[in-house]
Amino acid sequence: MSLHLTDVTLTYPDGDSRLTALDRVTLTVPRGSLTAVVGPSGSGKSSLLAVAATLIAPDAGTVTVDGVATTGMTRGELTALRRSRIGIVFQQPNLLPSLTATEQLQVMAQLDGRSPAGARGRARELLDAVGLAAQADRRPHQLSGGQRQRVNIARALMNDPTVLLVDEPTSALDHERGAAVVDLITRLTHRRATATVLVTHDRVHLAAADRVVEVQDGRLTPARAS
Ligand SMILES: Nc1ncnc2c1ncn2[C@@H]1O[C@H](COP(=O)(O)OP(=O)(O)OP(=O)(O)O)[C@@H](O)[C@H]1O
Ligand SMILES: [Mg+2]
Repeated sequence: MSLHLTDVTLTYPDGDSRLTALDRVTLTVPRGSLTAVVGPSGSGKSSLLAVAATLIAPDAGTVTVDGVATTGMTRGELTALRRSRIGIVFQQPNLLPSLTATEQLQVMAQLDGRSPAGARGRARELLDAVGLAAQADRRPHQLSGGQRQRVNIARALMNDPTVLLVDEPTSALDHERGAAVVDLITRLTHRRATATVLVTHDRVHLAAADRVVEVQDGRLTPARAS
């Protein structure tokens, strides 16, 4: 299955009225494909990811993850769904300062109630897949910005999510490292068959996408050719 948003509308309180951040957005992302999302600052890109991640419930419309409709789920059910099926990569890695790269990944398995025995091997395997086998025992302050972002990506994949949501993963990186991170996300999308949504400002990264959509004032449109 995949990620499916139907007629999603999201508003935020704005003084006496409400600001419409997403306006009847419909989007389907099949497994094993990458959809890039572009659009001006404030257009609703992060809001779209937050709704897809089930971190914010929309005012109207539905979000379906891996065939599971999320409407009406309790907070606990949503948390469990996120832990097992959704990988989220934010702009800032938010790694825990005291943990090694391997441990950052193991925590995710632990939160999902998986056996610690398998988790260590899986963490090593994923760190290897993102090119960090040699850095597996380092803590965040011993890693470069690009390496931290790769740990962040590996961590998001730890529980084999169906859906991978990535918000501007390259904005803190130089061009070359940014391109390497997007390349990595593309490869992992195909190899692990995730339904991936990548928000990016950098049009250079769009070549890797199976599909590009643009958000403008909360509405989704096919992206203009640049
Ligand atoms: N928690 C919030 N409360 C109120 N308004 C919000 C909130 N979060 C975002 N907004 C507003 O919703 C709109 C969409 O914001 P969003 O963060 O989704 O934009 P974005 O496309 O990700 O922008 P950027 O490229 O700058 O990250 C903006 O007008 C923003 O000011
Ligand atoms: Mg944003």
